Amino acid sequence: MNYKNDLILQAARGEQTQRTPIWLMRQAGRILPEYRAVREKLSGFKELATTPSLAAEVTIQPVDILGVDAAIIFSDILVVPEAMGLTYEMYEAKGPLFPKVISVEKDIIDLKVKEAAENLEYVYEAIRIAKRELANRVPLIGFAGAPWTILAYMVEGSGSKTFSKAKKFLYSEPALAHLLLQKITDTTILYLKEQIRSGADLVQLFDSWAGILTPETYQEFSYRYIDQICNAISEVPLTVFAKGAFFARKEMGQLNCRTIGLDWNMGIKESRHLIGNDKTLQGNLDPCILYASNQEIKKHTEYMLREFGPSKHIANLGHGVYPDTKVDKVKYFIETVKEFSFAKTIHS
Ligand code: CP3
Repeated sequence: MNYKNDLILQAARGEQTQRTPIWLMRQAGRILPEYRAVREKLSGFKELATTPSLAAEVTIQPVDILGVDAAIIFSDILVVPEAMGLTYEMYEAKGPLFPKVISVEKDIIDLKVKEAAENLEYVYEAIRIAKRELANRVPLIGFAGAPWTILAYMVEGSGSKTFSKAKKFLYSEPALAHLLLQKITDTTILYLKEQIRSGADLVQLFDSWAGILTPETYQEFSYRYIDQICNAISEVPLTVFAKGAFFARKEMGQLNCRTIGLDWNMGIKESRHLIGNDKTLQGNLDPCILYASNQEIKKHTEYMLREFGPSKHIANLGHGVYPDTKVDKVKYFIETVKEFSFAKTIHS
């Protein structure tokens, strides 16, 4: 395909790029008044996510308004448990809630896999529409939650600081946990493959709750399943973002994927050393830096760019952009990355 701008694909493939590409996790929605205008006319988040033409519209907004180098399909990681048979509700400010949770074997046996991937047709349709409307301006990112993070919501039933119910499940019912993780993994592979067939140019796995596990528990209940997904997806470059999994960076370097996402706790040079030179790295500005002055944003952004170096880097935040971030600050961050020149700063 002939893109007007495919810097992100070049960087993901490890090729030299003219400049460092940039996009922001959670760029679609929340921070943009244009998103809220679309959202206000609807009953809620779920109606927006399940209406393909509107989901496609808010997917493209950050490309037009912010000038990012990629779009990410507007959806949520929680559409997967819902398609498997566990519906959720999304409450403004409070977040997601699952009225029914997974606790015994029968709950897991009842969950759908192949049918679940078919139930997500509205996401595939949103991808097809977004691709058409993007008209090859920039690539489109597809995504899914990593199996452990999805299990965490399915067992806990809502967001939590500790996810102690979900962790209790791993420690007290390990066989059931593995049964559930395998079903989520199988669904996720089918789901990502269908996103790719519908037009996703690269895909990202979000393991948002990686950091609450011990290194050993992480290997057994998360990494193992991410490894399966990486081995199953070879059609497009894949990014693994495991928030808080600083302890697993060496193993991350062994995954069969192109890009590893870093959060802001992970030192850049140390991460490069642990992960190795093969992978592209993504991240990792602290989202809170976008609350500071332009001068501070510039200082921290340029430091980040120099630390990563001129190749195999996709600029991003270390986690999703916070909802109360000013659009002007996001734009300034993006402009700073686009204008940065390694050649000019070498001698300064
Ligand atoms: O990145 C993007 O812009 C694409 C859209 C996207 C959403 N959620 C839309 C959304 C993506 C990639 C996600 C991923 C997601 N969802 C994750 C992984 C990334 C991360 O932040 O760690 C997680 C853990 C979720 C689960 C989730 N969805 C929670 C906890 C909440 C409530 C709190 C919050 O973050 O807003 C959501 C709701 C949600 N997902 C909103 C949006 C735009 C806000 C709801 C609204 O607009 O009404």
